[in-house]
Amino acid sequence: MFKGILFDLDGVLTDTAEYHYQAWQRLGKEIGITIDRAFNEELKGVSREDSLKLLLAHGDRTQDFDSEQFAELAQRKNEYYVEMIQEVSTADVYPGILDLLKRLKKQGIKISLASASKNGPFLLEKMSLLPYFDGIADPADVAKGKPDPEIFQLAAEKIGLTAVDCIGIEDAKAGIQAILASGAFPIGVGRPEDLGTDIVLVSSTEELTADFLTSSWQTARN
Ligand code: BG6
Ligand code: MG
Repeated sequence: MFKGILFDLDGVLTDTAEYHYQAWQRLGKEIGITIDRAFNEELKGVSREDSLKLLLAHGDRTQDFDSEQFAELAQRKNEYYVEMIQEVSTADVYPGILDLLKRLKKQGIKISLASASKNGPFLLEKMSLLPYFDGIADPADVAKGKPDPEIFQLAAEKIGLTAVDCIGIEDAKAGIQAILASGAFPIGVGRPEDLGTDIVLVSSTEELTADFLTSSWQTARN
């Protein structure tokens, strides 16, 4: 049986993946780079700085900004994003998530956060989910972001486990790659067109029940 769950946040616990998209879109527009949802799939799960590198490369503008300007752009995007998440509340928690967290707690399963976002703790607090988390991996403590496995390994470590004993839940391609590389068992929230057909997927967090997680784990690991 799995002993821990490593949760991504944006797009898994709540709809903030959409706000990241809107903030990148706004910044992109200001510097003449247009992005669409298909391109946004490449940004999901990826750190702020790595996302900005991808955005600039997408617009063929990498050479146009020195390191100071790069830092200003990253900060500006974060300001747009932070502005949008001020009103996030318990009402924004995705369907089924609260029930799942409560049930996992009752079963003694450890819960950890494996988000690339430096705004993660703020959002958990806003959604009143902090008390459910036994550990939080600080993305500032990892050398390489998703798709590197480090953040999932750290999230497992924070709850006294190794990733192989955990389920990882993700809505991003880069995140699924990170989970697979960490040795944890991945469950994707999203569409097969975006996340592939070779892992367990749900189309809505409502499907993420403790029974579903247990049977998915048992089918894959026994
Ligand atoms: C991830 C998001 O959770 O966090 C990415 O999926 C985002 O879109 C990344 O770039 C970093 O977030 P932040 O809040 O530190 O800029
Ligand atoms: Mg995500």
